[in-house]
Amino acid sequence: MTLLIGIPLETATGERRVATVPEVVEKLIKLGFPVAVQSGAGVGANFGDDDYRAAGAEVVATAAELWARSDIVFKVRPPSSEEVALMREGGTLIGFVWPAQNPELMQQLAAKRATVLAIDSLPRTLSRAQKMDALTSMAGISGYRAVIEAAHAFGRFLNGQVTAAGKVPPAKVFIAGAGVAGLAAIGTAASLGAIVRANDTRAEVADQVKSLGGEFVKVDYEEEGSGGGGYAKVMSEGFQQAQRAMYAQQARDADIIITTALIPGKPAPKLITAEMVQSMKPGSVIVDMAAEQGGNCELTVPGEAVVRHGVTIVGYTDLASRLARQSSTLYASNLLRVVEELCKTKDGTIDVDFDDDAIRGLTVIKEGNVTWPPPPIKQPAATPKLHTPPPAVATPKGHGHGKGEPMSARALAIVFGIGALAFLLVGQFAPAAFLSHLTVFVLACFVGYMVIWNVTPSLHTPLMSVTNAISSIIAIGALVQVAPPLGGSTVGDRPSGLILGLAVGALALTAVNMFGGFAVTRRMLAMFRK
Ligand code: NAI
Repeated sequence: MTLLIGIPLETATGERRVATVPEVVEKLIKLGFPVAVQSGAGVGANFGDDDYRAAGAEVVATAAELWARSDIVFKVRPPSSEEVALMREGGTLIGFVWPAQNPELMQQLAAKRATVLAIDSLPRTLSRAQKMDALTSMAGISGYRAVIEAAHAFGRFLNGQVTAAGKVPPAKVFIAGAGVAGLAAIGTAASLGAIVRANDTRAEVADQVKSLGGEFVKVDYEEEGSGGGGYAKVMSEGFQQAQRAMYAQQARDADIIITTALIPGKPAPKLITAEMVQSMKPGSVIVDMAAEQGGNCELTVPGEAVVRHGVTIVGYTDLASRLARQSSTLYASNLLRVVEELCKTKDGTIDVDFDDDAIRGLTVIKEGNVTWPPPPIKQPAATPKLHTPPPAVATPKGHGHGKGEPMSARALAIVFGIGALAFLLVGQFAPAAFLSHLTVFVLACFVGYMVIWNVTPSLHTPLMSVTNAISSIIAIGALVQVAPPLGGSTVGDRPSGLILGLAVGALALTAVNMFGGFAVTRRMLAMFRK
């Protein structure tokens, strides 16, 4: 029997998002699930009932009917107790639940013998879970919107301009915390032409800040800020003092500050003090994205925009909902991916498989039994790109010959000595032509090494594809075989059929390599261009 997926209208005040969009309804139907949508559910995100009908969904009039009939309910916000009361016994719920913060809700859902998949409990570090990561998609949208809110409240351009009426300097934006939201804010502010600086306690994000067009500002204090799993930890008092001094300096200089710093399970660190706000230029703006967790700024009022000491402090807690159409679309795709994992058979039924780490992490209640928190994942998946180990800053400055440490002068001399000796031996016994080829080969290796070593790691992939294209130089060899020799051809000079065939094959393959390689490089480099 196929299961009905239901989408109720979100009831939390001011919530404009909806848990699925018409485009995704079509895909759910293809997976075998009939879909019902409560009338008006998509209005806040600009999706009308007719749009859902056109996509194949049934539109039902009331929340009571929708909850009663649905086997699986998609939600954005955690359900209220009234909504849980409407839920059918043994039903399934997929959405934000925050089990640690909502113990009562967990009990109510368990009493309904529900199966609950909390999208906020997804093991985010599993690479295959990334497509389901609604926290990341929502944080990215919020980071973008934070810059738009800041630009709206700020009385000047963000980019520098030279006009007939005079020169306008670019705005200076400082971002505190370069996680998902912070990085999105950096990219957005930089694309609007502002000068962007950013800081994070996790030194590993410095490269990501740079690649998005920002400058990473370091705290003058050596301490690793990673608390595991890509998240931060509470820093020592010494670090915090040094960080405050740096932030005070940035506050005096910046026009806009966007704070995103969070530590899981802890109140948001207070990074911007009242004095720092006072030291900012009148008309400056602070957007405190950590407002819901207590705020990174001492003067933030959660949910509101207030003016203190001439500085607008925006503490909105609904940034993603302020871009409802975009956030609903991404959220709907994240939930679709969850359903795809649950329904590999594409027959409108689900299998909550606890052998699947992603599904195990997501499932906080199974058939009325609380299964949260999940056991730790035994085999950590391939470390995602974002979790690059901290750069040299954190490595101990000891001596020795460990991996990655420079060779001592003595070891280097020995290696060179052996190399020279080997070269001498080859020179003695090998033919002269071989020696000249070897010299070119060794020099090419050396030059290649020196060039590649200095390329930023983020450009390694385009570099590889371009070298791949260049390696198609073998085309010349094939051409020499195919083309008749200069000065007329004699039958004896022509290559045999086999060689000709191989040469033509090589030409065809290398043409794909060459044009494909350059095309891929072009597309990759375009991603880095602003
Ligand atoms: P978050 O929202 O918990 O924290 C935001 C940022 O604030 C973090 O970068 C944190 O280091 C920073 N922060 C905390 N205390 C600070 C302080 N006192 N001063 C300055 N900065 C401070 O984290 P978010 O954005 O949800 O994720 C953080 C990281 O988790 C990502 O950058 C990534 O490395 C990892 N992650 C990995 C994913 C994956 O592998 N698929 C998906 C999502 C996140």
